[in-house]
Amino acid sequence: MASVIVNFELCGRDVEVLVQPMATLQSVLRNQLGHTATKEGCRQGGCGSCTVLVDGEPMLSCLLPVEDVAGRRVTTLEGITPIDGLDPIQEAFLESNGFQCGYCTPGMVMVTRALLDHDPQPGREAIVEAISGNLCRCTGYQPIIDAIEKAADRLSGSGEQTGER
Ligand code: FES
Ligand code: FES
Repeated sequence: MASVIVNFELCGRDVEVLVQPMATLQSVLRNQLGHTATKEGCRQGGCGSCTVLVDGEPMLSCLLPVEDVAGRRVTTLEGITPIDGLDPIQEAFLESNGFQCGYCTPGMVMVTRALLDHDPQPGREAIVEAISGNLCRCTGYQPIIDAIEKAADRLSGSGEQTGER
């Protein structure tokens, strides 16, 4: 099958890519657009490490044909990370030891971003539900939940919105 051109917005910039039919968003982000924070774990929808935001909603990029994001807004971890530092969610993960190897962290941060955009002060149950599709082999999850609570407190306390860039 012939390659196709797909246009979408990536972290605030318009991009146009020539892709193989049914190429996943994950592979295009990593291999053609250099957004390697989007991790490649199971590639079967089971680990959440490839989570990105599409129109502000968390989606598993390993299951998403890139053609399905044509005309839509895609945000990766690169898009929420300031050039010269960390965003408040990343800072909270750092301060709470919310990672060890870090492989799950981009997906966890993206899920947190979407959660806090919808619910700035989520309860513990909502946090657990939000990260239920994201596996972590290292932390036992408690530090991750602590990090999300800290990020929520900090962002809601300062009145700062986590609006997608
Ligand atoms: S790599 Fe996408 S869910 Fe595991
Ligand atoms: S920190 Fe290693 S998988 Fe989560």
